[in-house]
Amino acid sequence: MEKIVILTGAGISAESGLGTFRDEGGLWAQHRIEDVATPEGFARDPALVHAFYNARRVQAAQAQPNAAHRALARLQRDWPGEVVIVTQNVDGLHEAGGASGVIHMHGTLAGALCAACGHRWPAPAEMAVDEPCPACAGPTARPDIVWFGEVPYSMDQIYGHLAQADIFAAIGTSGQVYPAAAFVHEAIAAGARTVELNLEPSAGVSSFDETLFGPATQVVPRWVDLLLGQR
Ligand code: APR
Repeated sequence: MEKIVILTGAGISAESGLGTFRDEGGLWAQHRIEDVATPEGFARDPALVHAFYNARRVQAAQAQPNAAHRALARLQRDWPGEVVIVTQNVDGLHEAGGASGVIHMHGTLAGALCAACGHRWPAPAEMAVDEPCPACAGPTARPDIVWFGEVPYSMDQIYGHLAQADIFAAIGTSGQVYPAAAFVHEAIAAGARTVELNLEPSAGVSSFDETLFGPATQVVPRWVDLLLGQR
């Protein structure tokens, strides 16, 4: 049965009230990437970085999954083949919406990572600057988020899924950050049919066989209905 690989970005969580990065007034209009989303920024001012992620962690914990998250969970449940969700998001809303096996290539707000020994543990809602690592006791805790200049998680696993994709969908991503922005080319090389579901054309829109424009809570359930109607 056909395998579906889905890449999601901040746009799928926009209607849950979580900001995107590059839209008008987005997170990168409010904060400098080099200050809050790089290892150098964290080394320079850990308190600023913790404050940025603490605010996002509290906001994400209060957010609810929307119809788009729930539609992808329904697709995983009802599609006879494998459905793999790879997300750039760190908000945990795919799981809250019922999805499983989600690959978080940029980490998750819910995770803490020890910069010294690499230990991971569930992050407290508000992580302190000198949060002790439960394993090595160092005051070296950081958010378990993949920053610019760092290698995203699970790339071998992701490329393995893309190599087997029959259908590839990119949902709610501007297609401006690599390696995720190139996943569509991996899927095309594997012979997959490709579709972009977004509020507006992404930077990579011309690579897709099909596009469905509109708010994710409208276009994603419609797309899932179409797929399931084709079974
Ligand atoms: N429904 C569907 N798409 C939407 C909606 C919506 N309601 N609102 C916004 N979008 C689209 C925008 O048109 C845009 O193309 O979502 C996309 C969001 O793009 P970005 O803000 O660039 O977010 P994303 O593509 O996820 O960024 C990728 O960049 O900064 C890094 O690590 C960060 O994971 C992030 C990565």
